[in-house]
Amino acid sequence: MPASATIASAMTAPAQTSPPTTPDATSIRLSVAPMMDWTDTDCRVFHRLLAPHARLYSEMVHANAVIHGDRAKLLAMDPSEHPVALQLGGSEPALLAQAARIGAGYGFDEINLNCGCPSDRVQAGRFGACLMREPALVAEGVAAMIAAVGTLERPVPVTVKCRLGVDDDHDWDRFRGFVDTVADAGCRMFVVHARNAWLKGLSPKENREVPPLRYDWAWRLKRERPDLQVIINGGIASLEEAVAHLDHADGAMLGRAAYHDPYLLHRLDVALFGGALRPRQALLRELRPHVEAQLARGVPLRHITRHVLGLYHAQPGGRAFRQVLSEGAHRPGADWSLIERALAATRPSAGLAA
Ligand SMILES: Cc1cc2nc3c(=O)[nH]c(=O)nc-3n(C[C@H](O)[C@H](O)[C@H](O)COP(=O)(O)O)c2cc1C
Repeated sequence: MPASATIASAMTAPAQTSPPTTPDATSIRLSVAPMMDWTDTDCRVFHRLLAPHARLYSEMVHANAVIHGDRAKLLAMDPSEHPVALQLGGSEPALLAQAARIGAGYGFDEINLNCGCPSDRVQAGRFGACLMREPALVAEGVAAMIAAVGTLERPVPVTVKCRLGVDDDHDWDRFRGFVDTVADAGCRMFVVHARNAWLKGLSPKENREVPPLRYDWAWRLKRERPDLQVIINGGIASLEEAVAHLDHADGAMLGRAAYHDPYLLHRLDVALFGGALRPRQALLRELRPHVEAQLARGVPLRHITRHVLGLYHAQPGGRAFRQVLSEGAHRPGADWSLIERALAATRPSAGLAA
């Protein structure tokens, strides 16, 4: 059924009528964070090749954009990406419900609500991290989304990504109250970016670095609410750290480390789910059909190669690899042969070192 045909029924859907669904417990063990301008469909297709079992997240898309914008672009997704979540921004329950239904119609496996973004634009729109102060409104939004997508033939779970609090609000009971209120509305999974968001005085970038991380709060949440799926996010930079979190929570979500060092994703996938490590160049060559299909659609090569620049992070030849791609991808007619040249610029293959 085309997504547009489902909008009216989403608007009139009754309050939640079936038990909330949850994402499957295996894929949530490892996930790649939603990142604006980064985790577009090209990025996710690449990450999927590296981490066949991980859960992937889209960039945040505002509910209004989903409803009124260029859906073919905003909700572009390749079938290889599953399981993949659509992250929505917004706070108006009816719009969120409508957008969630459209997202589910496009095949996304989860609808995630952003309650963690601190940008000024987002604050002005009364969504993102400032929603941590409005648990009742978030609960209403979640209930409306579940009513819209939880009862589909293929029910789609509705999840929330949040912070610990905002500004200098370090009150465990308030954080716990937020989670309890939203869980009562049917949300079974919380991705906890384990630091506060400071709504005044810090840029979004600083807001990912300056407020101190408090993993203990996310772990405590899992201890006190073992019935909920709790995913830890924030500052996880190595395989060992990610694996250690799994003793305390249901999953580890990596953002910047996965993007800047995508081979870490591959190592994590193998460590958590088994299989043999594969060389970087073999993994990258699997991207060729996607690259060629996108080029045929008119997508410039640089839109795709920007996501693979970190593949040889801290490896011999890594700099040359990046240089060949960065310099060549802007040239008219750039095609797959550039990627082969970048691979050739790395050191000759020596088993997994390649
Ligand atoms: C470039 C960039 C864009 C981001 N965009 C989003 C977003 O759209 N939605 C969201 O919930 N978080 C967003 N984040 C935050 C990440 O999802 C994640 O919570 C944060 O980077 C902390 O995880 P990390 O330390 O593993 O990177 C973004 C982060 C970065 C670096």
